[in-house]
Amino acid sequence: MVKARSVLEEKIKELKKKRNAVILVHNYQLPEVQDVADFRGDSLELSRIAAKTEAKLIVFCGVYFMAETASILSPEKTVIMPDKHAGCPMANMLTADDLRKLKSEHPKAVVVGYVNTSAEVKAELDYCCTSTNAVAVVNALKDREEIIFVPDKYLADFVAKKTGRQLITWNAFCPTHIKILPEDVKREKKFHPFAKVIVHPECLPPVVAMADAVLSTSQMAKFARETEAKEMIVGTEVGLIYRLKKDNPGKEFYPASERAVCPNMKRTTQEKILWSLEELKEEVKVPDDIRKRAKKAIDRMLEII
Ligand code: 13P
Ligand code: SF4
Repeated sequence: MVKARSVLEEKIKELKKKRNAVILVHNYQLPEVQDVADFRGDSLELSRIAAKTEAKLIVFCGVYFMAETASILSPEKTVIMPDKHAGCPMANMLTADDLRKLKSEHPKAVVVGYVNTSAEVKAELDYCCTSTNAVAVVNALKDREEIIFVPDKYLADFVAKKTGRQLITWNAFCPTHIKILPEDVKREKKFHPFAKVIVHPECLPPVVAMADAVLSTSQMAKFARETEAKEMIVGTEVGLIYRLKKDNPGKEFYPASERAVCPNMKRTTQEKILWSLEELKEEVKVPDDIRKRAKKAIDRMLEII
C-alpha cells in the first residue's frame, strides 16, 4: 500500500512538472492529498496564491467555491478540480436570488459576504471576507449604518460581538462545525486540563465562548507554532489535525469532536489528482460577466487586508 502510494506520488510529481501545474490544498483535505501539496492553506491564503502563481494550471483540492475563487482571480489560468462534486453545503444555503431579495429589503445596507458563497452570490456583494479577515472587513465599514453579513449566521454572531456592530444576517451554517458541542469541549478540557482551546468562528456561539482563541484554519496553524502551550483542543474540521501534528511534532492536538468531518473535503484523493492531471479535468470556469463583478468584491477585501 505504501509502495502504491509512493508510485502515485511520483507520477503526480512528474505530470505536474510537465503540465506546469501547481497543487493547492485546503487544510481540511485528506493526509494523502496534503502530502502532494505545493501549498496548503486556508481560503484566503489559497486565493492569494492562485492570484500570483506563475503556473498555467491550478489543481484545486478543496471545495467548489474555492476553485471558483481561484478562477475569478486568475481567468487566464486553467483551474481544475479532481472532484467537481465537492461542494460546500453552507455556500448552497444562499442563492443569488435570495441575496437580491435581502438587498431589496435593506437598500441602504453595504453587503459583506463570506468567501463560502457561489460566484453568482459574490457578484452581488460589495465586500468579500474570509474567516481570517471578517472582523477587519466589518471594522473597515465604520461609516456605514447598515451591514448585511451573509451567509453564516454563526460567523456573523462572532463578528457582531467582536465589532460591536448589529448585522443583518442569513440563516445559513456549516453542518460540520455545528457538530462540535459545548459538552465535547467540556469533556476534552477535563481530559486535558492544560490544553489551550482553539475553535473556528463557524462553531456554535456557546462553543466559541469556551475558546481561548477563535481562529481561521491558518491562524490555528500559526497559533500552534507560536504558542508555548504543548497541548491544544482543536474545534474545527478534523483534517486540520494532520497538518498541526506534522508541523509541530513536539505538541499534542486533540479534536474537540471526531464527528466534525466535512464529507466534501474528503472526496479528493491522490488517484483523482492524477486523473485530473492526465485528463485536464474537471475545469472550473466562471462566466466573464459574473467573474468581473465577483472580482470587485474580492479585490476590495484584499485592499483591506
Ligand atoms: P478557513 O478559511 O478558515 O480555512 O475555512 C474554510 C472553511 O470552509 C471552514 O469550514
Ligand atoms: Fe463548507 Fe463547512 Fe465543509 Fe467548510 S467545513 S467546506 S464551511 S461544509
